[in-house]
Amino acid sequence: MSKKKVVLAYSGGLDTSMMLKWIQEEYKMDVISCILDVGQGKDLKLAEEKAWNLGVLNHYTFDAKEEFTLEYVFPAVKANALYMGTYPVSSSISRPLIAKKVVEVAEMEDAQAVAHGCTGKGNDQVRFDLTFKALNPDLEIIAPVREWKFDRHNQIKWAKEHGVPVPVTVDSPYSIDQNLWGRSIEGGILEHPDKIVPNDIWEWTVDVEDAPNEPDYVKVGFHKGVPASIDGEEYGPVEILQTLNKMGGEHGIGRIEHMEDRVIGLKTRETYEIPGAEIILTAHKDLEKLVLTRHQKAFKFQVEHTWATIVYQGLWVDPLKQDLDAFIDSTQVNVTGEVTMKLFKGSAKPVSRESPFSLYDYNLASFDINTYYDQGDAVGFINLWGLPSVSAWNLKRKIADEGIKEIRKKVVPVPTGDA
Ligand code: ARG
Repeated sequence: MSKKKVVLAYSGGLDTSMMLKWIQEEYKMDVISCILDVGQGKDLKLAEEKAWNLGVLNHYTFDAKEEFTLEYVFPAVKANALYMGTYPVSSSISRPLIAKKVVEVAEMEDAQAVAHGCTGKGNDQVRFDLTFKALNPDLEIIAPVREWKFDRHNQIKWAKEHGVPVPVTVDSPYSIDQNLWGRSIEGGILEHPDKIVPNDIWEWTVDVEDAPNEPDYVKVGFHKGVPASIDGEEYGPVEILQTLNKMGGEHGIGRIEHMEDRVIGLKTRETYEIPGAEIILTAHKDLEKLVLTRHQKAFKFQVEHTWATIVYQGLWVDPLKQDLDAFIDSTQVNVTGEVTMKLFKGSAKPVSRESPFSLYDYNLASFDINTYYDQGDAVGFINLWGLPSVSAWNLKRKIADEGIKEIRKKVVPVPTGDA
């Protein structure tokens, strides 16, 4: 009988490399490795070579940069997605795509199981497991880190004994996850939120102190809610993220450190670099203020909160996400235009904006012009608009004048006793 097969979401790092061997030994299964390029900037040829050397039955590399941008990053842009108002869900949105590809490979290869390298303490396991289960409930899920009882020392010992290459950077205490939408750094000293983050964690952004002393002004163009041009020149989806990451990084834009609530209930201290996301989301929100009505914005704000929360919590596959996307897409039809952003010393600020769908009317808004807006109309409007508030104040005054007892007597008759 031939061996069972498992498809592993492979990263090329030490943990998942070790897993290739560990699963073969402990589960007696054949392992197929699968790696996606979502813009993590790693040498995937090298990763593939490593996988073959560790005895995989087959290997798949997908260039998923464009799919990731169009199907995962852009919906997050339209949703102005910031978990806890801060984190642009960069790692959160990559997991459902990786999981989807792994399931596709498993089905192609007639595999019985899928595997990932997540720990039992994080969000990523939730995102992977849940997506696997939704897309193909027949696949067994193997998560070695949740099972193996290694501490770091014994893990490295095991790796060396089994011919798994241990990189010299193994001393780096940080766990890093990066893609086109952002870079997450966890672990080591960062696990002490009472300590200031050391400077060596930052890679995409310069210190504000070292940022240029002159600002850059950059015009970010949107087409139906998604970034499409810079300074009037059209950019491809992947290219525009890469370009704005670089520009923002040079100005020290998009460093985040905050306390985060994980799905599984833990609080953690998280750090991110998100230069492009910071510029794009800030510009997008600014453009929406120009082209959406106040009622659209108010309702969308609530939808955005739910969108970011469920996506963070691993519910990308829940039908609610689709429902919210349908609403959000409908709000984006007029979100076309350009926002000029000032990049300077760690900040990305909108300084001017224009759109063919602008709801701003100079003739209406200007103090200098009298048009069909009749200032006299405002008096009647204010009377009706303020009616509830003014009524409440009238009552307050009455209570103060008459005394509460007198008023109660009028409202609730005092029982006489001869009923
Ligand atoms: N806290 C973030 C999230 O849950 C980042 C996770 C990064 N993952 C990692 N394996 N380093 O989305």
